Amino acid sequence: MRTPIIAGNWKLNNTISEAIELTQGIKRLVADTTDVEVIVAPTFTALAAVYAVIQESNICLAAQDVYWENNGAFTGEISPTMLKDVGCEYVIIGHSERRQFFAETNESVNLKTKAALTTDLKPIICVGEHLEDREAGNTEKIIEDHVSGGIKDLSAEQMLSCVIAYEPVWAIGTGKTATPKQAQEVHVYIRQLISEAYTDEIANQVRIQYGGSVKPDNAAELMSQPDVDGALVGGASLQAESFAHIVKSSIK
Ligand code: 13P
Repeated sequence: MRTPIIAGNWKLNNTISEAIELTQGIKRLVADTTDVEVIVAPTFTALAAVYAVIQESNICLAAQDVYWENNGAFTGEISPTMLKDVGCEYVIIGHSERRQFFAETNESVNLKTKAALTTDLKPIICVGEHLEDREAGNTEKIIEDHVSGGIKDLSAEQMLSCVIAYEPVWAIGTGKTATPKQAQEVHVYIRQLISEAYTDEIANQVRIQYGGSVKPDNAAELMSQPDVDGALVGGASLQAESFAHIVKSSIK
């Protein structure tokens, strides 16, 4: 049985005081929730303040990106060790916005994933096709490329520490959610890819989140799919009530 995992990707939103207020709200609303892993991913500048709020709670901290070197002349970057130091347990890697606007590639995703794992940070590796890919019948090809590129050369043990987030780009911030059937189909395919690269047993343990316009009113149906193990939530994670509602919808 895989524990559902719901992460709020706050993207480029919230000052430190706004981040604290949002976290306090989420903390209060999910305080009694068990059997779900709850994660918030603020911007780098709010990580320390959010960590202070969630200590000794059932909420974990994630960063939205990481660099693969631990120190040196890399102006503007943040290392895995720094993220660990500020209290992160997870890090989102290869989000489609980073692939689209910041030249993220499968190679950089793989370097970041390996660096995170070496530092005991759990990667949430994002994969997903564009609308043109889906319409051209290339969804599986893109997913295969993103998954195999991201997890390249990971040991079985490292694979088990990763979460995969399937985020069809056409569903992100558009209000157009993948149907539960579409999500389930791709999740099964991702599990099959992991099984081919490792074993069935490992594939059955890795959690696969769905992301893309997850809202309180569609979360339960998406989460009820057998291979959908949680959600990576953008817009709806910016309000404590809607995020907490999604967290509660994920309990199977
Ligand atoms: P939305 O939930 O706003 O569509 O964003 C999804 C996402 O990109 C989470 O990483």
